[in-house]
Amino acid sequence: MNLFENGFFFYKDNELWCEGVPVKDIISSTGTPAYIYSKNFFISSLLAFREAFAGIESEIFYAAKSNFNLSVIKTFVQNGAGVDVNSAGEFYRAIKAGAKPSKMILTGVGKNAEEIKLGLDHDVLMIKAESREEVESINRIALSLGIKARVALRVNPDVDANTHPYISTGLAENKFGIRIEEALDIYRSHKDYPGIDFTGIDMHIGSQITTLSPFIEAVERLTSLYNKIASMGIPLQHLDVGGGIGVRYSDEEPFSIKDFAAAITPIVKKAGATVFFEPGRFLTANGGILVTRIEYTKTNGNKTFYVVDSAMNDLLRPSIYSAYHHVQPVTLSSKETIKADVVGPVCESGDFFAKDREIYKSASGDLLAIMSSGSYGMVMASNYNARRRPPEILVDGDKFTVVRNRESYDHLLFDEEGLMA
Ligand SMILES: Cc1ncc(COP(=O)(O)O)c(C=O)c1O
Repeated sequence: MNLFENGFFFYKDNELWCEGVPVKDIISSTGTPAYIYSKNFFISSLLAFREAFAGIESEIFYAAKSNFNLSVIKTFVQNGAGVDVNSAGEFYRAIKAGAKPSKMILTGVGKNAEEIKLGLDHDVLMIKAESREEVESINRIALSLGIKARVALRVNPDVDANTHPYISTGLAENKFGIRIEEALDIYRSHKDYPGIDFTGIDMHIGSQITTLSPFIEAVERLTSLYNKIASMGIPLQHLDVGGGIGVRYSDEEPFSIKDFAAAITPIVKKAGATVFFEPGRFLTANGGILVTRIEYTKTNGNKTFYVVDSAMNDLLRPSIYSAYHHVQPVTLSSKETIKADVVGPVCESGDFFAKDREIYKSASGDLLAIMSSGSYGMVMASNYNARRRPPEILVDGDKFTVVRNRESYDHLLFDEEGLMA
């Protein structure tokens, strides 16, 4: 049976390590469930991305939605990345992590007036607009502030990303972006928007894309649109191809970042623009694990269940996307395998991490690692069933730091007790 390893999470003497620390040592101090991140995975992924595109003028904006822990954002910012923020809350987090608004992109299909004003007040590098009404709104707010907003239209290139329907965003039927024809029309009428300086054009066709063809098709459409707009005398400067680069969760074989660069570079070169990227998952997914303890082992008929102390409120992806996460023991004590469901304590049948999965045989009290949990894990965590969200730990070489504590019971109440009616 396969173990999921990379250079940052690996087995030594049958123990799972993160960088230079045995996972079980971290858990002895923090308890379970807990998210553990490898700082050097994050840095090396960012450097690999940058290196792959060294041949063109480009900028990487870390998509904070994939993991918005302050220390994670700070790691990317300290290593030269900008940040793609999706809401006022992510903007707030990015600022707290030390990001400069001049290296921030403000994203989102439904930004409200307060969020647009926030972006303009702080002079973010660029605001994306996803509809004609949003363009009008940005124009109005910028004029009321007496400034010019730097705006890129997010175009919907109508390309099938062949990914899970919930994370496919570049088809005409999806809510995202503006159709190419309408985008052209808006750029053409740029003089009607004196509060806006159109500086670029943008796309993001979906997430966990594991084949190159959708990217190639979409980037070709975007590049030709860019050149059409340039020929209309509108001096755009950047072409934003979004994020979406797929990673390995199981036995997928996604393209490498070098393959991605080799496919995209000759196309974007035709525009001669600075190319923006907004990767999230590529930078974080395999840099994190969720560690949980088996509370009970039971069999119902011919089914075996490992009931663990983590749940769908901590990691929602299996429940909402039927997403695969490799599950493996923190201490490999037996080579025997068993078919089991790994389930949480929440009162929902959708509360599972693995179903009918061949896994290493374990026993109550053992620790399990749910791999590839660095993206869209803690950011989607909730307090469902009045469960406290888990702590987050950042490992750097042979040191580990708790970078967010386990929530307290008071946190669950917030001001509710005093407000009780
Ligand atoms: C606009 C935008 N940019 C970037 C991303 C990051 O995507 P990924 O984590 O797949 O790289 C997302 C996520 O869906 C997004 O909506």
